[in-house]
Amino acid sequence: MTMPLSVTVCQKIDQAIAKYPAGREQSAVMAALTIVQSERGWLSPESLRDVAAYLNMPPVAVYEVASFYSMYHLKPVGRYVLTLCTNLPCLLQGADKAARHLQEALNIGWSETTADGMFTLLQGECMGACQEAPVLLTNHHRMCCKMTPPQIDALLAQLRAEAAGKERDE
Ligand code: FES
Repeated sequence: MTMPLSVTVCQKIDQAIAKYPAGREQSAVMAALTIVQSERGWLSPESLRDVAAYLNMPPVAVYEVASFYSMYHLKPVGRYVLTLCTNLPCLLQGADKAARHLQEALNIGWSETTADGMFTLLQGECMGACQEAPVLLTNHHRMCCKMTPPQIDALLAQLRAEAAGKERDE
């Protein structure tokens, strides 16, 4: 069953559309996908159709954008998506050790989600902060630098505590 876009999502998409000339609402497609994903957690086929309808675009054109960029999730993901840069500068500074540590701590491999739905682990490309290697992004937004195993443990504990706090507030 299709769920209509929420009022909040529509307002945010309208703000994105307003940044472009009249009649060019399709230019806001990436913003719209980000907004919908942030509310729904991932982009189901229904969500892609909702975005297409809102922006007067063919659904396939929205799918082409969503499937091209790695920050859009076309399958369900965990509450926190951890993307570790595994490009050469980060590898030379310990990204391989960070990857092993993350996989062991979470008991998952690349592109997998923990059984509790808390974390999804992704391999990423250079994030433009090679001097801070190894670099990890949480939910494609917050950059975490110099991610040694102790730093990773601290981050995981912090995110778990944050999630527990949000659940208590809900
Ligand atoms: S190679 Fe990892 S941030 Fe540039």
